[in-house]
Amino acid sequence: MTIQNNQKGINISEIDTPSIIVDLDIVENNIKKMQNFANDNDVSMRPHSKTNKSPYWAKKQIDQGAIGICCAKLGEAEEMAKGGIAEILIPNQIVGKSKIQRLVNVNKISKVMVAVENEDNVNELSKAFEENSLTLGVIIEVNVGMDRCGLELDEIVDFTKLIKEKKGLSFEGIMGYEGHTVNIDNYEERVNETTKAMNKLISARDLIVENGIEVKIVSASGTGTYNITSKIEGITELQCGSYIFMDGNYLKIFDDFQPALSLMCTVVSRRKNNIVIDCGLKSVSMDQGLPEVVYPKGIKLISLSEEHCKCIIEEENDLKVGDKIFLRPMHSDTTINLHDDYFVHRDGILEESVPIAGRGKFK
Ligand SMILES: Cc1ncc(COP(=O)(O)O)c(C=O)c1O
Repeated sequence: MTIQNNQKGINISEIDTPSIIVDLDIVENNIKKMQNFANDNDVSMRPHSKTNKSPYWAKKQIDQGAIGICCAKLGEAEEMAKGGIAEILIPNQIVGKSKIQRLVNVNKISKVMVAVENEDNVNELSKAFEENSLTLGVIIEVNVGMDRCGLELDEIVDFTKLIKEKKGLSFEGIMGYEGHTVNIDNYEERVNETTKAMNKLISARDLIVENGIEVKIVSASGTGTYNITSKIEGITELQCGSYIFMDGNYLKIFDDFQPALSLMCTVVSRRKNNIVIDCGLKSVSMDQGLPEVVYPKGIKLISLSEEHCKCIIEEENDLKVGDKIFLRPMHSDTTINLHDDYFVHRDGILEESVPIAGRGKFK
């Protein structure tokens, strides 16, 4: 009998490989821990879904109290809207005629707000939404030191006034992503740099408020700064995302959240202490470093090619061809983007396979 990958109740070792395996108990604890922390600090959660790319996980976060989610790309937002998520923020710019038309269309299903920082873009958004008798919620992106997108403080007031004059747009607030501080390994330095970044965001808010304009949303934070940014007076919500599965790279600097995701692979060759497993660059990313072997212990990953992964057995074991081994990618986001499904389990027993709806939806 062929075993179906999505057969609830099977042992996960029966699932074909390479596959993404997620421990549901750990994810639920991570979601609860972050939401409780946000509640205790009087900020809302609007978790970033760029990592999980699936309404299945977004709904779990909303069930625990999140006010909505963030999506990195319009394509991901379309999938989340189709999957029943009612409130979405794209904390990025949506530029160009065809994307703006898609943004109009998706706003007929769910409320999808976007970040803005360019006058031509604001004009195009305003025209499209007015023509469709719709209103688009916008927040201004402030450059808080990451030097990616975003306005400087001396541009904020005029830009806010411009948005306020535009038909089809509703000014909701501001955001600033402190991506340059989230991975600083020294905690004190992370606190100092994050506080500097967030003080700039709060100064932007103050400038707008001094001009008599209400700022409802002040949005920021990644997983590495959740406990710093949430304490800054005036921040209204957190955009953290990776904490849901907890990246291998974040675990190098703190362990407030537990790793929930691994890639299950099969040993396809063994010669003395050298083994080859069936994952490669097409099934696991290494943009933030080589994955590590989490089970069994005592195996070191050496290199990845397209379909193969070479490892060395450092502590003698009886691993043989056909046995399973589990890897932890350093960066979940880019690994998840390579797969069609999550295999979600409790205590090693499959609960369900969950489609990764936003996989590859980078337009
Ligand atoms: C704008 C924005 N907000 C929030 C996040 C979430 O960060 P993390 O995955 O570290 O929680 C990201 C990550 O890239 C981001 O680009």
